[in-house]
Amino acid sequence: MNIIRAKDYQDMSRKAANIISAQIIMKPDCVLGLATGSTPIGTYKQLIDWYNKGDLDFSKVSTVNLDEYRGLKHTDSQSYYYFMHENLFSHVNIRKEATFVPDGTNPDAGAACAEHESVIRELGGIDLQLLGLGNNGHIGFNEPGAAFEKETHCVDLTESTIKANARFFDSIEEVPTQAYTMGIRTIMQAKKILVVVNGAGKADIVARAFWGPVTPEVPASILQMHPDVTVVCDEEALSMAPQR
Ligand code: F6R
Repeated sequence: MNIIRAKDYQDMSRKAANIISAQIIMKPDCVLGLATGSTPIGTYKQLIDWYNKGDLDFSKVSTVNLDEYRGLKHTDSQSYYYFMHENLFSHVNIRKEATFVPDGTNPDAGAACAEHESVIRELGGIDLQLLGLGNNGHIGFNEPGAAFEKETHCVDLTESTIKANARFFDSIEEVPTQAYTMGIRTIMQAKKILVVVNGAGKADIVARAFWGPVTPEVPASILQMHPDVTVVCDEEALSMAPQR
């Protein structure tokens, strides 16, 4: 596991964007696994900036997203489909038909999740998966206690995740209670993984996930077993990590 220390959020975002752009330059037709949430927004901004300067070309890139709320329309500003278009896809020359977010509009959870897995397989697997880290150690929507061997599936969101996500909605009642998410197994099958984490509020979970025991109680801890993981943290997020 390669831990990279960044000064602050901006530095974290720039370092993470550097790793993603290296991937695109080395393999222009790569498959990127993408995340939503607040952490990667700066990374996407930096990628857009380099695209605007002519340094990056997304024309052959394909993307698959980690997760999506069940039941939100694509036009809903809280859907991850909408988020990805707002924060990245609409600003770069990616082919929209090469971007895949789990289909939260499909009420048939089994079919929507199987479809996402088959998209990933048909693309030849994920070259680089970007992840954020939940306050409780979740990755994607794989909450504490989730089985490590799952592929894309439908989950009930925990109380703590619903509360954490409520900041994006007008009221907590509007936060969806279920989501379709890549499973830990899907994530672990990515060739490379890049995790971005910032802020003092994540310091404790960073220490537990990357220096603590590997346990389903801290889903991100499984990443310690992956052969090619890079974690980019700002100083605050690393403040409780041992020997740093
Ligand atoms: C997003 C996702 C989540 C977030 C995590 C951290 O697609 O799967 O696991 O990465 O909840 O969210 P932020 O970055 O908002 O702290």
